[in-house]
Amino acid sequence: MEKKLFSPYKMKDLTLKNRIVMAPMCMYSCEKEDGIVTDFHMTHYVSRAVGQVGLIILEATAVTPQGRISHQDLGIWSEEHVSGLTKLTQQIKQNGAAAGIQLAHAGRKAALRDEIIAPSALAFDEKYKEPKAMTAEEIKETVEAFRLAADRAKRAGFDVIEIHAAHGYLINQFLSPLTNKRDDEYGGTAENRFRFLKEILEEVKTVWDGPLFVRVSACDYHEEGLTADDYVSIGASLKKLGVDLIDVSSGAVVPARIHAYPGYQVKFAEKIKHGAGVAIGAVGLITTGIQAEEILQNDRADLIFIARELLRDPYWPRTAAKELGTSIESPKQYERGWIF
Ligand SMILES: Cc1cc2nc3c(=O)[nH]c(=O)nc-3n(C[C@H](O)[C@H](O)[C@H](O)COP(=O)(O)O)c2cc1C
Repeated sequence: MEKKLFSPYKMKDLTLKNRIVMAPMCMYSCEKEDGIVTDFHMTHYVSRAVGQVGLIILEATAVTPQGRISHQDLGIWSEEHVSGLTKLTQQIKQNGAAAGIQLAHAGRKAALRDEIIAPSALAFDEKYKEPKAMTAEEIKETVEAFRLAADRAKRAGFDVIEIHAAHGYLINQFLSPLTNKRDDEYGGTAENRFRFLKEILEEVKTVWDGPLFVRVSACDYHEEGLTADDYVSIGASLKKLGVDLIDVSSGAVVPARIHAYPGYQVKFAEKIKHGAGVAIGAVGLITTGIQAEEILQNDRADLIFIARELLRDPYWPRTAAKELGTSIESPKQYERGWIF
């Protein structure tokens, strides 16, 4: 029987050749601090396309310079970024993978020399700067920055856009009551805390009609924070807003100890998938083909996101296929590798 991990997956006009997604991973490699794609990014991402990953999602890519996690982050805040990103999507696609980009703003988790912003003036911990609470005008400008970034991503040839609403970065800071202490229409009730993300999605959709993902942190690991049950409601709202898939991660909103074990976030993925009736990507310590196949066959998620294992093994899809007793196509230049 065909393994589900190697079965195609269709979203809108895009068909992924398998269910394996390279999860976004910051490479902090823009040494010139200009956010422009470097030779390293080309080699890094294109290797995983050659390695037969179905969808490659680029690392958190900053929609404004102030929204970078570090000065070395990849950026999409200006027209100067489009040509490097275009070359990258072309190469990824020529090698048979689909190309995605994670649009991000770090908010209070930016480790930058200049001023940083957040919903409320609360530092993450003593190592981080205290952010400035955003004005209504700054909220508007940031929503607009996501729209402009989505338009650039479209022109650069991306197949998928993922909005980074996880890991305690700016959007997550609006969603969580632990980090959002505003008393205007962006704070207080769950509906108000969701407003910033809602406006971003509405604006992005004015320029983007392709597959749209949102990455969430489905648990704050804090007794006054958000839980997977809250994210079932958020998931239902995201579905209504036209989001095609929720990529379910967890934590990093406030400092907290997380007990991580193989597949430790899959329970959140499964809950949101069935509670909100939305397509889901599972991520977090998924490292073997058997684990991935179990998650898909038991209908706990629709796509499998792999991060660190793809750093260790750029050809992980082949490793997983061998483990599952099947084989996958190789790039045609490598077919001789199968002839003895
Ligand atoms: C080097 C590195 C960089 C990461 N950068 C990002 C990022 O840019 N955006 C994001 O949402 N998650 C990021 N993550 C988290 C991963 O996408 C993933 O959720 C996490 O590593 C758990 O999956 P894994 O066990 O397969 O590694 C990063 C992880 C690593 C190891």
